[in-house]
Amino acid sequence: MTEAFSMEGRTVLLTGAARGIGAALAVGLARAGARLCLVDSAPLEETREAVGEPCRTYRFDLADTGRIAGFVDRVRAEAGPLHVLVNNAGIARMQRFNEITPESWRAVFAVNTDAAFFTAQRVAEHMIADGIEGRIVQISSKNAAVAEAGLAHYNASKAAVELITKSLACELGVHGITCNAVAPGMIETGIAEAFPGDLEGLFAAWRERIPLRQEFGTPEDLLGAVLFLSGAASRYVTGTTITVDGGALADQLPRLRYLPPYRAGLPEKPRGDR
Ligand SMILES: NC(=O)c1ccc[n+]([C@@H]2O[C@H](COP(=O)([O-])OP(=O)(O)OC[C@H]3O[C@@H](n4cnc5c(N)ncnc54)[C@H](O)[C@@H]3O)[C@@H](O)[C@H]2O)c1
Repeated sequence: MTEAFSMEGRTVLLTGAARGIGAALAVGLARAGARLCLVDSAPLEETREAVGEPCRTYRFDLADTGRIAGFVDRVRAEAGPLHVLVNNAGIARMQRFNEITPESWRAVFAVNTDAAFFTAQRVAEHMIADGIEGRIVQISSKNAAVAEAGLAHYNASKAAVELITKSLACELGVHGITCNAVAPGMIETGIAEAFPGDLEGLFAAWRERIPLRQEFGTPEDLLGAVLFLSGAASRYVTGTTITVDGGALADQLPRLRYLPPYRAGLPEKPRGDR
């Protein structure tokens, strides 16, 4: 691990660490040397075991927005200065536009948007008071850029996260604190497990339109971008988004299979002289 990507000596507050992307980030950040404070409303024992090193774990419901500042104060008091915040906790519900209720709209925004903002707000206040040139990383979504049917609240909540990211970048730059987003594409986790409808058909259709090997990503595939945005390597990068989607957003339509075959045969062996 070169110094630019090392987390040695850095304390990272990571939300949504009980499973999925958050659990994989916890393991990867710990291997890079981070001291971890893991947050989730679900039990964190499995992640703690996977990390295999001492880490602080907090059961906390981030939808309880009014208590976030006090919660962050407690983490800061117990763990010392915070160098990195990774806002990863999130929820998705699959509902047609006229099935969305004020309650389900607010539930999605409470975790994905409100908690992401108010956690970043309080963590940034501590970073400023502690003189830390910190890093804030928001786990957004490809859906912040391009919508998907049945997810109006989710799409909007993630688009808001991306403008929060830019807004915080504008205000925190003077303190040397960066704020960036990572936008995952289709990643193998349980986030869509309760979605109604033909999930198998939907996922098969999705796979066909992912240019990179036509595969979903793994939670571990997010680690590189998160490490880059959490460490010294990204000191002059702020207000931007790294998309980790296997190229899904790069392609309007999977038309490759409708093209004629290659004009000439491919070389049998890679040429060593190029
Ligand atoms: N999996 C994907 O394909 C995908 C795609 C784009 C974006 N994302 C984003 O990545 C992030 C992680 O998603 P995932 O796929 O790992 O999902 P997941 O459902 O596997 O994990 C989400 C974690 O967040 C926690 N969480 C949810 N609500 C919470 C609350 N109120 N308080 C505290 N913790 C809470 C859950 O308990 C869970 O451990 C989310 O922000 C999600 O929107 C995921």
